[in-house]
This record gives sequence, C-alpha cells and structure tokens, in this order.
Amino acid sequence: MYKTVEKGINMSLNVFFYTVMYMSRKVLLTEDEIPKYWYNILPDLPKPLPPPIDPSTREPIDPRKLEAIFPRSLIQQELSQERWIPIPDEVREAYTLWRPTPLYRAVRLERVLKTPARIYYKYEGVSPPGSHKPNTAVAQAYYNMKEGVQVLTTETGAGQWGSALAFATNLFGMKARVYMVKISYEQKPYRRIMMETWGAEVIPSPSNRTKAGLSILERDPNSPGSLGIAISEAIEDALTHEGVKYSLGSVLNHVLLHQTVQGLEARKQLEMLDEYPDIVAGCVGGGSSFSGLFWPFYYDVVSKKAPKNVRFVATEPTACPTMTKGIYTYDFGDTSKLTPLLPMYTLGSDFIPPPIHAGGLRYHGDAPTLCLLLKEGLIEPKAYDQLSVFEAASLFAKTEGIIPAPEPSHTIRYVIDEALRAKETGEEKVILFNLCGHGYFDLKAYQEYFEGNLKPFHYPEEKIKESIQKLIKEYPWIQQIPYIKS
Ligand SMILES: Cc1ncc(COP(=O)(O)O)c(C=O)c1O
Repeated sequence: MYKTVEKGINMSLNVFFYTVMYMSRKVLLTEDEIPKYWYNILPDLPKPLPPPIDPSTREPIDPRKLEAIFPRSLIQQELSQERWIPIPDEVREAYTLWRPTPLYRAVRLERVLKTPARIYYKYEGVSPPGSHKPNTAVAQAYYNMKEGVQVLTTETGAGQWGSALAFATNLFGMKARVYMVKISYEQKPYRRIMMETWGAEVIPSPSNRTKAGLSILERDPNSPGSLGIAISEAIEDALTHEGVKYSLGSVLNHVLLHQTVQGLEARKQLEMLDEYPDIVAGCVGGGSSFSGLFWPFYYDVVSKKAPKNVRFVATEPTACPTMTKGIYTYDFGDTSKLTPLLPMYTLGSDFIPPPIHAGGLRYHGDAPTLCLLLKEGLIEPKAYDQLSVFEAASLFAKTEGIIPAPEPSHTIRYVIDEALRAKETGEEKVILFNLCGHGYFDLKAYQEYFEGNLKPFHYPEEKIKESIQKLIKEYPWIQQIPYIKS
C-alpha cells in the first residue's frame, strides 16, 4: 500500500517536472546578449514620414531650431535614415542594471483560460523605476551629459516616465526637473518620493513656475492638469534657462528606436524556444513601448524574413481613443502650441482627459511613425474601458502573480479575449505582448475597482470634432500642408 502511494507520488512528480520543463516558464539572456544596435524603422516605412512643420514658417522645421531644447546627437537620431544605430558602451553598461529582461510564458493564465494559444510576455517591470521607460531615459541622459547639459526637464503623467528620467539623470551626474500632472501628483505620492529619492525636483502641473502654467491656472485654478499642459511647462522651462534641455518619453522617433532593445531581445528569446508570434500586441499612450516591441518583427516582415504573417495589435482606453476615433491631421504636441506640428491621429491638443487610472495613456496624440502605419492599415487598433481592463488585470495577477500597471492591462484585456477566441476555433496562436510595467504604485486604482467605484468612460466623438474644428479655424493653412494629403 505504502509502496503504491510512493510510486504514485513519484509518477506525479515526474509528470510535474516534465510539464514544468516542457512548458518553459521564462527565457533569460545573459548580459553580453544585450543588443549592440537599436533598430530604426524610418528606412522601412511604407511611405516617407511626413516632416514636423514649423508653425512660424509653415515649412518643415529647420533641425537647428530644435537645438534650443534637444542635444544635437538626438536630433541626428531623430532624422536618421540609418537602419541600425550603435548603442554606446556606457548605455549598455547602464542597461545591465536590469537588462536583459525576462520573457515569460503565461502558463497559468493559459491553463485557466483553457486556450490552445501560447501566450508570451516581455516583462519590463524589472527595471528600477518599474517600466520600459528607462530604455530611452538612460540613452537620452547619456547624450545630453556628453553635450554638457546639467538639468533635464520633462513632464510625467502616471509618474513612470518622470521616475525613469530621475533614475537616468542621476546615473550620469545630472538633475531632472519633472512637471507632474496634478491629478497624478495627488493620486500617487509614492511616485513623487521615488523621483525625489533619485534627486529630482517634482512640480505639480499646472504650476506658477511658467507662463503656460499660470495661464491655465488663471482660467481654472482647480485644473487637474494634462500631459499637454505639463509638456508646455517643461519646454518653456528648458527654453528659458541655461544648461537646461528638455526630454520627451514617447512619440518621437529617437525615443521609439531606443525602445527596440525589447523587441530585439524578445525575438532572440522566442527563437530559443523555436517560436514565432502570430500576434504582437501592446498598449499605446504615445507609442514607445509598443513600437519598441513590434518594430523588430515588422522589420522581419518587410525584409521577408518572418516565417508567418504577423498581426500588430495596439490597445488604448475608450476614454482617450486616439487611434480608434482620432482624426489624422497635423496638430501640436502640447496645449500651449510650443512644439512643431506633428502628423498624427489626435483628439485635439486642448484635450483634457477624463481622470481614468491609466495615466500613461491619457495623451491626445500618438507617434507619427505609428500613425502612418495605422493609416496604411498595418496596425489594428482596439479600445477598452477601464472596468473591463481591471477585470483582466485582476485575472492576470491571480494567475501569473505580477500585478500589472493599468496601461499594459489594456493589452491583457485584448490578449485574454484573443485567447478565448482561439479556444473556440482551436487555433494554436502564438501571442506576444508587452508587460511594460508593474502596478505596485497603482494599488489605489485596484482598490477603486474592488470597491466598485470605477466607471467605464467613452470619450464623445463630438468633442474630438469640436477640438479639431477649433484648431483649423485658428490655423486654416494646416489643411493645405501637402505631406498628409492622400
Ligand atoms: C507602464 C506604462 N506603459 C505605457 C505607457 C504609455 O506610453 P508609451 O505608449 O510611450 O509606451 C506609459 C506611459 O507613461 C507607462 O507608464
């Protein structure tokens, strides 16, 4: 009797170990496998990227004008047509603090969903600030330091980008001055303290430190702020102080290309498992985490190296539906119209987002490269409301353990739905997504979800049209810019 039980246990253990070994839980790379080059999508776009327009000349911007806020090396990267850009040794060395990041297979989630789909996620939450953002923050701080900059100003919504820049500037002996959207400043005191721990100065925006902030406060002293306003403040600060430049955490080409370390590593990790994705998915606030993951797979497709037709799926909130309901036009990147005009899907640069919890997804526009690919039908956009997003996030936390940030939880919602569709059709789809940050500073949002206080919110289409009509009334020549006419 005893022997039989023991034999039974041994057999179960064998099956258990076989299952665990067979279903590799995660794939790790060594530090010398951190990529040596970033991938730049510009030479591989289906059409040339429409240039940023200088509103004062109504012509493509003279790159020298950008030197007031960015260092030369980053402006060169912004415009570069080189496909592969070498990663400086100092940046690779800084990356070793958390890279390479693990690629996980969501074995427990798959089991609960009873899906034949194989779900993989690239986990960027292992970085010290807790997201993908330092992949570019470290690079930007390095290039600024090389050109003698002492302070970098920036905006932050959820606090992830501000923390990343605070962390990165500190590594290179510089300071960060962070304009934090006021509602996040109030909702997330620990993010602020994290930034201060790395030596940053954090200012709630709108503030009385800049003309941009003061003009908003005059109109609405209780303004909750927005990313558009905080960008205006950070740019104005850089323009009016010596030794100070501005740093952006998303949208621009150089930012997105720094993020490709994620996709390059993920491609190698999947290769080690003899896998290739049918779907690559990610959330979009400005487009940097998603682009960082999917660009290398897009390169495989355009260079005819991909063994499959890959679908690229981008997720966003219904409360800030830039890709699914926005209008493709030239618009400003900030509320005070200090930036050049960028060709993008937009909700209007005066957009004040509803106070949903995915702070990083509350931006009115998106990266011009991403918008071009979306317009060409190469990216599938999907929008989800925050209730369904937190339902998915909770299931993920219960099965996989990691508590995801609200932003990538939009993608988790999509992935779960797609895995359930695969269950119905019996397709063994391989899905790769980007778990671009953890949610350990977002527990208030989880609390509100558990207490039933979260409301689904759909941004009204009329408001978007109103906002764009206002823009066009003020700048009628925007409609005549030749580059985005189809
Ligand atoms: C965790 C996380 N994911 C996603 C985003 C959205 O930005 P992006 O689309 O540039 O990745 C943010 C922005 O703050 C973020 O903090």
